[in-house]
Amino acid sequence: MASVGSATAVVATAFGGPEVLSLTEVEVGPPAQRQVLVEVRAAGVNPVDYKLYSAGRAGDTSKLPMRLGLEAAGVVKAVGEGAEGPAGPVGVGAEVIAYPVQGAYATEIVAPASSVLPKPAALSFEQAGGLMLTGVTAFHAVTAVKVSKGDTVVVHGAAGGVGLMAVQLAIDLGARVIGTAGESGHTCVRQMGAEPVTYGEGLVERIRALAPGGIDAAIDTVGTDEAVDASLALVSDRARIASIAAFRRAPGLGIKLLVNGPGADPGTELRSAARLELLRLVDEDKLRVVVAAIYPLSEAASAHATLAAGHTHGKIILVP
Ligand SMILES: NC(=O)c1ccc[n+]([C@@H]2O[C@H](COP(=O)([O-])OP(=O)(O)OC[C@H]3O[C@@H](n4cnc5c(N)ncnc54)[C@H](OP(=O)(O)O)[C@@H]3O)[C@@H](O)[C@H]2O)c1
Repeated sequence: MASVGSATAVVATAFGGPEVLSLTEVEVGPPAQRQVLVEVRAAGVNPVDYKLYSAGRAGDTSKLPMRLGLEAAGVVKAVGEGAEGPAGPVGVGAEVIAYPVQGAYATEIVAPASSVLPKPAALSFEQAGGLMLTGVTAFHAVTAVKVSKGDTVVVHGAAGGVGLMAVQLAIDLGARVIGTAGESGHTCVRQMGAEPVTYGEGLVERIRALAPGGIDAAIDTVGTDEAVDASLALVSDRARIASIAAFRRAPGLGIKLLVNGPGADPGTELRSAARLELLRLVDEDKLRVVVAAIYPLSEAASAHATLAAGHTHGKIILVP
């Protein structure tokens, strides 16, 4: 019978800033029925990871030490009985993506088979580890605002993790995309096929100058008052504005808030099904993952400090 092993994992030992992160040894496996033991090669880093242990959430110390990381890519080491994922049976040695999971910042994890999908051959482990969370979020957003052929769409924060995915998905659906970014993000926004525009004072006028025929829909990945106000000024149908970050402003404005916040659409089934769509788009060379930086697990604190500074272009990835 398979025995319990050990893995190295990143944990938050307190609520606070990135300085509370450290490495620890944890027990792992063996996989039970419908579970899979994955040797992690790369884990995607997302803003929610540092928000979960931020000082502002301090309170429930029973959550400490807190394992982190919701997505990973790696190789299957062992499977429990009936290990069938959304794309079919999962076997030992398979290269996979695991999403959603808990505690992906680790050398090994046990994942529910329902979260284990084949890694596209075209993606490195680092790219694959950063595909899903931002990808399903962007998929949710383009679906929520009904992006379709011929639309002109604004993506706020177009050079970020979710933004770059939303740009590519909207373009694949046949839209023209205008993406807000700081000057340093313009090149990568343009490389994805969108037209970059600098955020800040005069944003609405700059977008109107680019699209005098009007804007059909807006996706806000930033949550600033500027992004919300610009969306309201540019898009006449508020049902075609979605935000993943304006938790304070969006409720009551008639715009769609996704996943978190009062009245948010959880999109559970849509997001689960989106995973296979994302794999298809990668296989068809219609979706790329931009890796902004790779850090070892031992430098998770630096990775979080960089991401929290708010100007990453693409995905930050941790590798064991
Ligand atoms: N609700 C959900 O389901 C969900 C899922 C994923 C993420 N989120 C949330 O969505 C937000 C974005 O996530 P992410 O992973 O895309 O983060 P990210 O990779 O850190 O990207 C943030 C981007 O925002 C841009 N930015 C910063 N200030 C801006 C401003 N004032 N106006 C326009 N753009 C600005 C930055 O680029 P520049 O260099 O151009 O400034 C950066 O590329 C986070 O708050 C995250 O927690 C929500």
